[in-house]
Amino acid sequence: MADTEAASVDVVVLGGGSGGYACALRAAELGKSVVLIEKDLLGGTCLHRGCIPTKALLHAAEVADTIREAGRFGVRAAYESIDLPGVHTYKDGVVARLHKGLQGLVSSRGVRLVEGEGRLVDAHTVEVAGERITGAHVVLATGSRALSLPSAPIGGRIMTSDQALGLAEVPARAIVLGGGVIGVEFASALRSFGAEVTVLEALPRLVAAEDEAVSKQLERAFRKRGIVAKTGVRMESAADTGSGVSVTLEGGETLEADLLLVAVGRGPVTEGMGFEEAGVTLDRGFVVADERCRTSAEGVYAVGDIVRGLQLAHRGFAQGIFVAEEIAGLDPRPIDESGIPRVTYCDPEIASVGLTEAQAREDGEVETVEYNLGGNGKSQILGTTGFVKLVRRKDGPIVGIHMVGARMGEQIGEAQLIYNWEAFPEDVADLVHAHPTQNEALGEAHLALAGKPLHAHN
Ligand code: NAI
Repeated sequence: MADTEAASVDVVVLGGGSGGYACALRAAELGKSVVLIEKDLLGGTCLHRGCIPTKALLHAAEVADTIREAGRFGVRAAYESIDLPGVHTYKDGVVARLHKGLQGLVSSRGVRLVEGEGRLVDAHTVEVAGERITGAHVVLATGSRALSLPSAPIGGRIMTSDQALGLAEVPARAIVLGGGVIGVEFASALRSFGAEVTVLEALPRLVAAEDEAVSKQLERAFRKRGIVAKTGVRMESAADTGSGVSVTLEGGETLEADLLLVAVGRGPVTEGMGFEEAGVTLDRGFVVADERCRTSAEGVYAVGDIVRGLQLAHRGFAQGIFVAEEIAGLDPRPIDESGIPRVTYCDPEIASVGLTEAQAREDGEVETVEYNLGGNGKSQILGTTGFVKLVRRKDGPIVGIHMVGARMGEQIGEAQLIYNWEAFPEDVADLVHAHPTQNEALGEAHLALAGKPLHAHN
């Protein structure tokens, strides 16, 4: 039973990650009274165990590579080694500053933050730390966790990204199970830190959700970097031998390494919090929500990784804002999942928005162009290879943009405008792109698709 009388507010948000806190901030901005419940740290996976710390690791990795390759640019510098505790200090400092800033933001907007594990009592009531809080609206935003496999029990040298973020030393040899987003990002960072890395992927290619041309380019670049990618392979079992890990593949091949990183996806955190009892329908753990983020229980919404779809922080932000505006009666436009930009921060970076060529072909004829970064001055200065691939509906708008190459993640801003505003290649070809930038490659790809290539062959 609750100790105190029920507090009553307009919006109760369960979970203070990207989706939850964005919803709380926007609802408060719109004049709603808001309670935000968080059992761990405000900011959730993205800030503490995901986007931010991993990108800090990848930046340190880039610095290491830059020093190693300095001679190529005529700069004499000597690379010594990675000081992982030093890397952690830098990474944790970034996280701590952002965490402090977020805490300040939440309190300055008048959101009441309640620390503790919340549980839905009914569609309008959440119980937390002995208190019952009722809301005219309840928003579920409890996020996701790293999945593991029975054949590779987590512990010791077998870990998920949660533990890998805090590694005490760089392993001499690492095996990464799963060649998806987390797998290739960690493979990339560990390789830059000096480890011998092998990636095991069950599907026929790395980053299988991306356009096939992107996978091919990444695999080529990884090979050049000395990262071994074994695709189309299944793991049978893995064991921590005390001094290392032993991984057996189906077919009998055995691989040895110092650690095994399991990156086989993330699953929703929806168990044991009373969701189903309160009338919220789940489908294999995911909350079922419609395009307006409504669950099957009246007045209960769901945002972020607990709803099937892209598990990205910025999707969570967008859904959180959407729900706050929906509650405030602003009738916001539903989010187009394909229009959500995707960036993978391995080296080389991958950035995409819209449909892959194969997906676009399912709905009719398409035209494509692949603009090679070999023709882009700034990319040559940086010494990177890659491309910008465009997919357009035949005689119609751009429906997919796929980029790969160092720093190409930064080009996703214009790419998402092009896709989401349903631009034609001819529209973009008329816009002047600054020279010499990598952004120019995006402009040149559109020139080529519009039939007037400049630094590209016909
Ligand atoms: P994922 O779904 O991207 O990739 C998992 C991969 O593991 C798949 O390719 C799958 O085929 C493979 N796999 C599954 N079981 C396997 C097995 N037994 N043997 C070999 N391969 C196996 O999931 P991931 O990489 O764990 O990431 C989770 C989520 O986090 C993703 O949805 C991703 O979008 C998000 N994320 C996004 C980032 C970004 O936007 N930069 C960074 C990191 C994560």
